[in-house]
Amino acid sequence: MSQYPSVAPGQSTFKLNTGAEIPVVGLGTWQSPPGEVAKAVEAAIKAGYRHIDAAWIYGNEEEVGQGIKASGVARSELFVTTKIWGTYHRQPEACLDESLQKLGLEYVDLVLVHWPVPLEKRGDEKIPLNPDGSRALDRDWTPEQTWEQMEKLPATGKAKAIGVSNWSVPYLERLLAKAKTVPAANQVELHPFLPQHELVKFCQSKGILMQAYSPLGSSGGPVLQDELVQSIAKAHSADPAQVVVSWAAQRGVVALPKSVTPSRIETNHKLITLTDDEMLKLNELHQQEGKSIRLVSPNWGVDLEW
Ligand SMILES: NC(=O)c1ccc[n+]([C@@H]2O[C@H](COP(=O)([O-])OP(=O)(O)OC[C@H]3O[C@@H](n4cnc5c(N)ncnc54)[C@H](OP(=O)(O)O)[C@@H]3O)[C@@H](O)[C@H]2O)c1
Repeated sequence: MSQYPSVAPGQSTFKLNTGAEIPVVGLGTWQSPPGEVAKAVEAAIKAGYRHIDAAWIYGNEEEVGQGIKASGVARSELFVTTKIWGTYHRQPEACLDESLQKLGLEYVDLVLVHWPVPLEKRGDEKIPLNPDGSRALDRDWTPEQTWEQMEKLPATGKAKAIGVSNWSVPYLERLLAKAKTVPAANQVELHPFLPQHELVKFCQSKGILMQAYSPLGSSGGPVLQDELVQSIAKAHSADPAQVVVSWAAQRGVVALPKSVTPSRIETNHKLITLTDDEMLKLNELHQQEGKSIRLVSPNWGVDLEW
């Protein structure tokens, strides 16, 4: 018997620690350009997606909302996530209000703290910088204080569940030591070049659902060029994107592939069933020389010392 739980192709779901169902594959919307996002979201929902991953900082939530509306699918059938940006750590509800207004929604299904790094609030500046180019951190505020604010959101009815993004094990340990609510999810960069084995194990032991961002390797989908990924795709007569999305799903991890190309949107969410041997090879790919790569690494200039 396989050591991996089977994930049925099509619209499968995982369960959050709130009891809510979350579709295993969601459409990413970062860097989806103006004029294309609404169409991509509409195409995805029409192709069967029921999960859309948005964020305040992506600057395109108005179009995401238009795409949702144009799809004609009832709000109650969709799972929508947004994220609180660093400049709003002291007031996450204000950020959520802006996102809801732009999305044209009354609530989101999940709201995440985008990064565990509070940034200075300087008017409308999205990414306040220090003179050396690093990001201007708000060092008088901790991620745990942000979480205390987040914990108030479900009672407002504006977010059904709360979670985090880009939290490592040490950050989660700090948070869990004080939290009243265990985060429902942790969204991080995760693909075969950065499988996050330790973090997945930790989160799963605490009932925190893992979500894979940049599952294809981000811009241009470099992971899809990998020889192993391509050979497994060939063996299943599938697209390489289906291999990496299904690999995440079979590990119990939600995958959030982004595309604005209708044919890719259509393909990316169709899960295939990988064998244990294929899973093992993909799990170990990062051990090969040159195959351990983090692609999303903003210059936070962060340490754990505040
Ligand atoms: N929480 C966070 O801090 C964070 C950070 C990064 C990302 N995210 C979320 O995760 C989502 C996905 O990550 P991502 O946008 O970085 O990258 P990704 O989904 O790994 O890759 C997107 C790239 O792959 C291309 N692509 C899509 N399907 C393909 C296919 N079947 N064959 C070949 N190329 C394909 C896309 O091109 P086209 O669009 O031109 O088709 C795009 O260039 C984001 O959109 C966002 O929602 C969250």
